[in-house]
Amino acid sequence: MNLTNHVFRLATRPIGMPKRSDWTYSEERVPEPKEGELLIKALYISLDPAMRGWMNEGKSYVPPVGIGEVMRALALGRVIESRHPKFAAGDFVSGTFGVQEYAVSDGKGVSKVDTRVAPLPLHLSALGMSGLTAYFGLLDVGKPKPGDTVVVSGAAGAVGSVAGQIAKIKGCRAVGIAGGPEKCRYLVHDLGFDAAIDYKSDDVKKSLREHCPRGMDVYFDNVGGDILDAALAQLARGARVVICGAISQYNNTGPIKGPANYRSLLINRARMEGFLVFDYAERYGEALREMAGWRAAGKLKSREDIVEGLETFPDTLLKLFKGENDGKLMIKVADA
Ligand SMILES: NC(=O)c1ccc[n+]([C@@H]2O[C@H](COP(=O)([O-])OP(=O)(O)OC[C@H]3O[C@@H](n4cnc5c(N)ncnc54)[C@H](OP(=O)(O)O)[C@@H]3O)[C@@H](O)[C@H]2O)c1
Repeated sequence: MNLTNHVFRLATRPIGMPKRSDWTYSEERVPEPKEGELLIKALYISLDPAMRGWMNEGKSYVPPVGIGEVMRALALGRVIESRHPKFAAGDFVSGTFGVQEYAVSDGKGVSKVDTRVAPLPLHLSALGMSGLTAYFGLLDVGKPKPGDTVVVSGAAGAVGSVAGQIAKIKGCRAVGIAGGPEKCRYLVHDLGFDAAIDYKSDDVKKSLREHCPRGMDVYFDNVGGDILDAALAQLARGARVVICGAISQYNNTGPIKGPANYRSLLINRARMEGFLVFDYAERYGEALREMAGWRAAGKLKSREDIVEGLETFPDTLLKLFKGENDGKLMIKVADA
């Protein structure tokens, strides 16, 4: 096959918010897959806050994207040629295919996607990595019990919206923190959260006191910074603080703002614990089956923010950091 690829490669390490010039966008020839490889055409590319961290130098849970390398991204695609025994042309697959139109893979970390379970974009959202993150972070780290009060920040986003709904499924009271009245309305009216706090206009500390009079038993944190500090002030005895992410700190040019209020962990015999969804890879199947059941029963809803066109990538990514995404953000590269 004589195909042309369009590829975003990392050009420089950004300072603060990423700019278009931090990547190159080039046309390249697609290499032929060798024995044991498959050629994938990207259909949807997942845009994730973690991509900002992958652009930085330094130690993390994965090596940084190297200068000149294809920008790392999870994606859904269709196999268009296979010389790999486990995959056939026509299969829908997910994997770390990068911000590009075509990827050649040796099959490691590639999974088949069953489009009979749910439409393709859902496999990046509630039934993909975002949903899995909420599932394991809330259930394994947060360990909610029926009757608990669970507070979720970044609650209208891809991970947070699922975490709050799982809290409800488990018989908890769910309180979301999100930016703006529309997102707060969505949480309460569409997703069934018990209350929502608009951190852009409400006094978060005061609102948490009002909505969690007995304190919070689980705090699922996606944002860090000032909101984490406000939440720590309202812990119940024995609370679990789940550190899922800290998006408010990802574009900091100065030092990261840590929790000044950590003494609350001592006073309340509470625990704060970070986790990474990738550590649960062996249990993805079990979690996805359960979440697909919840979705089929109408208990797990999601919305996907789908932007058309690979070339929009640098600007589209910024929607995450400006709170402009409504649900799971992804780019549609091609029709299925
Ligand atoms: N631990 C893991 O394995 C793992 C895996 C996946 C994701 N994560 C983390 O989960 C979090 C959510 O990711 P996602 O994919 O679901 O993204 P998302 O919530 O769909 O989108 C990001 C949202 O973050 C909020 N935000 C942005 N800047 C903020 C700020 N300065 N202060 C407060 N809120 C801010 C915005 O919502 P508002 O409009 O409400 O401000 C924005 O819509 C991220 O921190 C991510 O790194 C962790």
